[in-house]
Amino acid sequence: MALLGATSAASCSATTGAEPQAQSPSQSASEQVDCSVQRCVALTFDDGPDQFTDELLDTLKATETPATFFLIGSKVQKLPGTLQRMAAEGHQIGSHTWDHSDITKLSAQQLKQQLDRTDAAIKKATGQSPSVFRPPLGHHDKAHNQLVPYPLVLWDIHTHDGRLKNSEKIVKVTMDTVQPGSIVLMHDPRKTTVQAIPEMVSQLRAKGYTPVTVDQLFTGEMENSVVYSSAPHDPAQQ
Ligand code: NI
Repeated sequence: MALLGATSAASCSATTGAEPQAQSPSQSASEQVDCSVQRCVALTFDDGPDQFTDELLDTLKATETPATFFLIGSKVQKLPGTLQRMAAEGHQIGSHTWDHSDITKLSAQQLKQQLDRTDAAIKKATGQSPSVFRPPLGHHDKAHNQLVPYPLVLWDIHTHDGRLKNSEKIVKVTMDTVQPGSIVLMHDPRKTTVQAIPEMVSQLRAKGYTPVTVDQLFTGEMENSVVYSSAPHDPAQQ
């Protein structure tokens, strides 16, 4: 037992020394998750970054909860510090167009501009490009999807947080409908949404759920231009 303990302590400190980001709570939590056997759920936040995003990042850090953010490019340049933090703390970053455009109403050239400008803004702030895309309003069609050089991520749980504006109800909608592989749609510019997260995470964990990024939910196996609304799951997991 002593030998095992010494070995794991040595490898742990070696990892920490070599890779400072491994100290991040969400990073270390993400390394251990296997969504093929665990009950995973992806919490996703659209339309930021905004005034409450840092408060949300505080909560996610304190609860060791990785999340995925679908960002509006024109807002990214206003809050580069928030973006740097989001990336450094292990969250997944996605694009949500430059100005929340309905992509089905755009020409191919307009769509490319929306995506390229957003990619450049995110890359300037974080050093990395977005890895996934969520079409504003969920509007998409086959012709436009083929022009999107990212996986298109929708959701199976719409919390209606913009309409409800009530933290308890946002938690209840989620808990009433969540299942392994779910993707939960929320909006971090909403204060009541950000305030709902501590209780939501607590209740999800009490039910055996592990919050993960979208990438983890699909174990990294997503294809560009393909639409995803939830991850497949074994009914036996229920
Ligand atoms: Ni949106």
